[in-house]
Amino acid sequence: MSTSTLHDGLEALRADRAHEPAASSAVSRLASTFGTPLYVYDRTTIVSQFRSFHTAFASLFPKLRVHYALKANANGAVLAVLRGEGAAPEVVSLGEIVTALRAGWRGDEILFTSSSKGPDEIAKAVEIGAVLNVDSRDELEQAAATAAAAGKRVRISFRINPGVDPHTLHHINTGIPEAKFGLHLDGGLARAAYARATELPSVAITGIHCHIGSQIMETDGYVATARKMLAFVQELKRDLGLSLEFVDLGGGLAVPYHDGEEGLVPAVLADALAPVWSEAMADLAALGGDPPALWLEPGRFFVASSGFLVTRVNTVKTTTVKTFVNVNAGSNTLLRPAMYAAHHRARVVGASGTPEILDVAGDVCETGDILAAERRLPRPRAGDFVVFLDAGAYGFAMASTYNARPLPAEVLVDGDTATLIRRRGTFEDLFRDETK
Ligand code: LLP
Repeated sequence: MSTSTLHDGLEALRADRAHEPAASSAVSRLASTFGTPLYVYDRTTIVSQFRSFHTAFASLFPKLRVHYALKANANGAVLAVLRGEGAAPEVVSLGEIVTALRAGWRGDEILFTSSSKGPDEIAKAVEIGAVLNVDSRDELEQAAATAAAAGKRVRISFRINPGVDPHTLHHINTGIPEAKFGLHLDGGLARAAYARATELPSVAITGIHCHIGSQIMETDGYVATARKMLAFVQELKRDLGLSLEFVDLGGGLAVPYHDGEEGLVPAVLADALAPVWSEAMADLAALGGDPPALWLEPGRFFVASSGFLVTRVNTVKTTTVKTFVNVNAGSNTLLRPAMYAAHHRARVVGASGTPEILDVAGDVCETGDILAAERRLPRPRAGDFVVFLDAGAYGFAMASTYNARPLPAEVLVDGDTATLIRRRGTFEDLFRDETK
């Protein structure tokens, strides 16, 4: 009889002790109760990630609001945990607005960012009093007209493209000049947008926003961005008389995806930003401006490391070139390795043989469907479990039913309790929306 909890088992996996009974008993309990492939989120980790972030910033930035970027993981049970901790929602679509409202947030707590919003999305933001994070002059005019027609004022910020490269993967590098996001500071585009907004009676200017990318390891890009943004905030006060309620510096903090890595520690980022912020606040005060609140909006940092993808080994095959461990999940279940060559640690549960170089391959008919390439792992046997770590962000959220494989189930673990938070997809789900 094992005395370890499910949480202990998940921690053993993380600590590379997948051969220990705590790990095996947790994974076999979860797999036999809920089946595989299975996304498992550890509530304790979500809470500790959020608190470590909030504490690090709250001690240095008295006016602080922490948003959660729903796109990372929008399961309602995960949202309930983060909402309970005090996070506000950052959303990117009408679907995410609906998701945030369903999770219990008020409309006026929502920040709505997207570089391409439709009329229905703008109208909903106006109706519920969300902050519309405007990405273009065109969008500004549409939002002003929509609000005027509804007899309302739309609260806006502008998303700024600061022209800073934080040195992350090209696909998730969003603040460089050639990216599609935001209004450029360079060339006066952002300034002209604020100036135009002051002329529109149906528009209430509330803040300024940027988000320079994702999985950012270093503080330099954030510091350079903060300098530019805060200098611009002073310019807006001095030249246009604008006082902003908030400056949102985005999300993007890196989490560790490799053993021995640390990611970007919130306290390190908070320490790096604090002097830049306080200097800018002093300059702003000299101009007669009130200090804005600092807003931040990570997604990955709060949920990535809480998540585990549990898969089962179908077959093991040695070719003349490699050995493949074929599991019952693929890039349809966890897209990040195929899409970004992203690294997720793979743990073979319960096996303790001498490690070999193995490829863990998915069950999708694509050559690129390799979940873990050339890893040193003990060779599993059919029926064993391979668990992928750090799958809580952009895991289930990016899953599809490609190859007619229904979506996996999701489970939330709290101590020794596991709760099903999304039932496994069914074959009926695959056809439900077809009309012929
Ligand atoms: N705010 C905005 C405006 C964003 O576009 C994003 C992410 C976030 C916040 C949250 O970023 P985070 O803190 O999670 O890095 N699918 C990719 C990541 C795409 C991120 C898109 N935007 C991946 O799997 O790595």
